[in-house]
Amino acid sequence: MKKAIIIGASSGIGRAIAKILSSEGYILGLAARRTELLTRLQNELATQSYIKYIDISVQDKSIKGLSDLIDEMSGVDMIIITSGNGFINPSLDWEKEKSTIDVNVSGVTAMINTAIKHFYEKGYGQLVVISSVAALRGSGGAPAYNATKAYLTNYLEGIRCRIKKDNKNISVTDIRPGLVDTDMAKGEGLFWVQPVDKAAGQIYAKIKKKKKVAYVTKRWGIIAFILKHIPERLLYKME
Ligand SMILES: NC(=O)c1ccc[n+]([C@@H]2O[C@H](COP(=O)([O-])OP(=O)(O)OC[C@H]3O[C@@H](n4cnc5c(N)ncnc54)[C@H](OP(=O)(O)O)[C@@H]3O)[C@@H](O)[C@H]2O)c1
Repeated sequence: MKKAIIIGASSGIGRAIAKILSSEGYILGLAARRTELLTRLQNELATQSYIKYIDISVQDKSIKGLSDLIDEMSGVDMIIITSGNGFINPSLDWEKEKSTIDVNVSGVTAMINTAIKHFYEKGYGQLVVISSVAALRGSGGAPAYNATKAYLTNYLEGIRCRIKKDNKNISVTDIRPGLVDTDMAKGEGLFWVQPVDKAAGQIYAKIKKKKKVAYVTKRWGIIAFILKHIPERLLYKME
């Protein structure tokens, strides 16, 4: 039986992916801070699962937490990192910027690092990280959020280069969702907000194909194309 860990399984996209993987027969490791939500999810799953409290903003403890979970499961085939935070922060409140960097940059990198080392030891595996379409351009409303996601997409490309050079059988999938109907989708005037189950279904299809980079949902692929090409002066008008 295949085994996967989802960090950030307590709500939103991570929770929806957990349900799909369980229906596909995966044994799951479920990690996040809100363990009561993980327990609720566990009771809804068809397959065996393990729960672990992990706060990725505290890196020494989260690295140990993920390593312990991997050991408890006697190794895993796939690690999916959906944990992330973000704030609409036009006033540049430092605590919000710092929290976003702590979680999305330091926190997620610590989990990537631990996951990749496990797959190097094991000889194979698949890492999946949920970044965002936001990675493509800067945002005046949420500058740290977009910048942290840009960091992640660049970091994952670097990890893919490392793996290729070392000739390892490890795949790294960077999923870049557009707006999805979860607690994370904040702000006014949001458009094309997609149902979480639809997004999770498309994410699973990309995971199965071991895509390097994928935009979900499909219509957000069109927005991504436009975002990549428009000049900065048009971004000002979108703020
Ligand atoms: N929704 C969107 O429109 C959208 C668009 C593009 C990308 N994304 C990305 O998708 C990912 C999942 O977000 P979502 O939309 O599903 O929102 P969500 O329901 O708010 O989920 C966020 C997840 O991150 C976890 N998390 C936050 N801080 C954490 C920490 N310090 N340690 C461990 N886990 C932490 C949360 O778990 P606990 O609070 O229980 O720890 C929760 O499971 C995020 O990386 C987000 O940036 C979302």
